[in-house]
Amino acid sequence: MNPLDVFKLEGRSAAITGAASGIGRATAEVMAGAGASVVVGDLDDAGAEAVAKGIVENGGRAVAQKIDISKRAELDALVDRAVSEFGRLDVMANVAGIAADGLIAEATEEQLDKAIAVNLKGVFFGCQAAMRVMMPQGSGSIINVSSTAIDAPAARYGLYAMTKAAVAMLTKTLALEAGRYGIRVNALAPGSTITSFTLRHLQGAGGEVDQSKYDAFVDRMKKQSPLGMLGEPEDQAYLILYLASDAARWCTGQVWRANGGQAFGA
Ligand SMILES: NC(=O)c1ccc[n+]([C@@H]2O[C@H](COP(=O)([O-])OP(=O)(O)OC[C@H]3O[C@@H](n4cnc5c(N)ncnc54)[C@H](O)[C@@H]3O)[C@@H](O)[C@H]2O)c1
Repeated sequence: MNPLDVFKLEGRSAAITGAASGIGRATAEVMAGAGASVVVGDLDDAGAEAVAKGIVENGGRAVAQKIDISKRAELDALVDRAVSEFGRLDVMANVAGIAADGLIAEATEEQLDKAIAVNLKGVFFGCQAAMRVMMPQGSGSIINVSSTAIDAPAARYGLYAMTKAAVAMLTKTLALEAGRYGIRVNALAPGSTITSFTLRHLQGAGGEVDQSKYDAFVDRMKKQSPLGMLGEPEDQAYLILYLASDAARWCTGQVWRANGGQAFGA
């Protein structure tokens, strides 16, 4: 037997949130490349359409769906789309998330509500929607995206890190409840990866990327990794592929880290 066969996702279907950009996009493309049929979900409908189109042009199967993950009904609709288009749901990747920068003492209630609505409730609703289909099916893999921000406190990242720590505990608890149905639940805590998420630190007043800020950021992030390098969205997508595949059939309830060994304060 070719050991690579265990990573193949032929005949399986995956729903992915945040799939118009960054880590979610790489996940959609890698999963489709491994043979899965994918539903590309995102608030950015034009971006989601473009990713789905690119997958189809490369010989894969994909459809796009506009969703706002802070709304439970839209995650139900995402999962229903996977079933109506592809007949089943084998993988649910809850990737979408937003930044929530600022000092705790200065955070408004609106900022708190928004961070919780997207980063926590969005993943919670995604898990519930997936469970509704996967439980009667008796199988499935749910993968939630947390963050390396859960590993050490950092000033100005409190709101974000709180929601991502909650995603880690949601994952571990759901894994306990879902195992009896043959469903695995895992989380990723990605290290710093340049996407539109990180670019917010690197833009000048007009929104253009400030090259000196960009270079300083990349330099700082590289120094935090003993490998002296910065990760790319595919580094997370390959780990998601592993967790989605039968290679990870004995893996559940864990928080996985592709982060270059990053240690803050290094
Ligand atoms: N980039 C990093 O350094 C990093 C590190 C750790 C964790 N993460 C996490 O990885 C995930 C993906 O981030 P990324 O870096 O690829 O960012 P990104 O900004 O490139 O992609 C995020 C995607 O989520 C979508 N989105 C935002 N709000 C949404 C909503 N309410 N409903 C549906 N879609 C929505 C955006 O439109 C975007 O396409 C996030 O959960 C983020 O917190 C990123």
